Amino acid sequence: MDTRLVYFEDEAVPARRLAEAAGLDASVIKRHDFPDQELLLTLASPLDDALPRTLVLYRSLDRPNDKLVELLLLARHARRLGVTRLVLVAPYLAYMRQDIAFHAGEIVSQPLIGAFLGELYDAVITVDPHLHRISRLEEVMPGIQTRTLSGAPRLAALIKEKRRNPLLMGPDDESIQWVEVAAATTGFDHGVCHKVRHGDTRVDIALPDIDLRGREVVLMDDIASSGHTLARAAEALLAAGADSVDVAVTHALFAGDALEVIRRAGVNEVWSTDSIAHPSNAVAMAPTLGKALGEVLGEVPGEMKSEAQ
Ligand code: R5P
Repeated sequence: MDTRLVYFEDEAVPARRLAEAAGLDASVIKRHDFPDQELLLTLASPLDDALPRTLVLYRSLDRPNDKLVELLLLARHARRLGVTRLVLVAPYLAYMRQDIAFHAGEIVSQPLIGAFLGELYDAVITVDPHLHRISRLEEVMPGIQTRTLSGAPRLAALIKEKRRNPLLMGPDDESIQWVEVAAATTGFDHGVCHKVRHGDTRVDIALPDIDLRGREVVLMDDIASSGHTLARAAEALLAAGADSVDVAVTHALFAGDALEVIRRAGVNEVWSTDSIAHPSNAVAMAPTLGKALGEVLGEVPGEMKSEAQ
């Protein structure tokens, strides 16, 4: 067998969907957490039984710290056994937001985590990584194959099924990229708010100059983390006369009580892609990931190219 996909038990559903879309055999990696928090990983189908030339790991990097150790252990193990090509499919890529030092002394994690992954894996496929001050993932992971996909087209299709004539709204200037993609494919009106962040859970939102009275608004963003960005935007929209506010995000991080924070702000429905397993998942990324994975696997190492899709 030339290529095998492996995944962890907690992501069996999206990983198996991807394996099916890409036509790959898939097997699980079991994880045991020792009382002292060290990890023991066990491959249900040991690699040395039938060594694949290429190994694809599906691991979304929400709650990333332990997972970075998983990635290290698996990659080094596979290389030791003789696997020649390692592909990481990480629908959510962590540590991409700290791309500059906002305060003196802060360690800029984006290029460091990027280099760590780039040294371990030959290719990384991800969805809507938080790249705002650089434009391409390969700048963070030089020399390896990268594919940057987006959840926006699939979220746009879902919104079109669910709402007749919504106003698509981004909660901050950066979200224009997803809102514009969705507006272009659906023809819906769109706009973005302006956000000023004062801390992890303190943001101010200023609305654009659009008549919101009676509108069904869908807020679109890449990430919902603490939920405060979406909550403040929803409150402002409803106060300005919007009829309803729904939320569509690529990455459902929803840390702590984020979902409750969003609901308390008056949000109606919350939809997300399955880039991070969460009850709000309404869109599977497998077709998009499967196509990109097929292309990456089809490229000849040495003539590899990187491109955003
Ligand atoms: C930031 O620019 C991102 O696009 C999101 O708006 C942000 O990460 C959301 O964070 P939170 O949910 O904690 O407000």
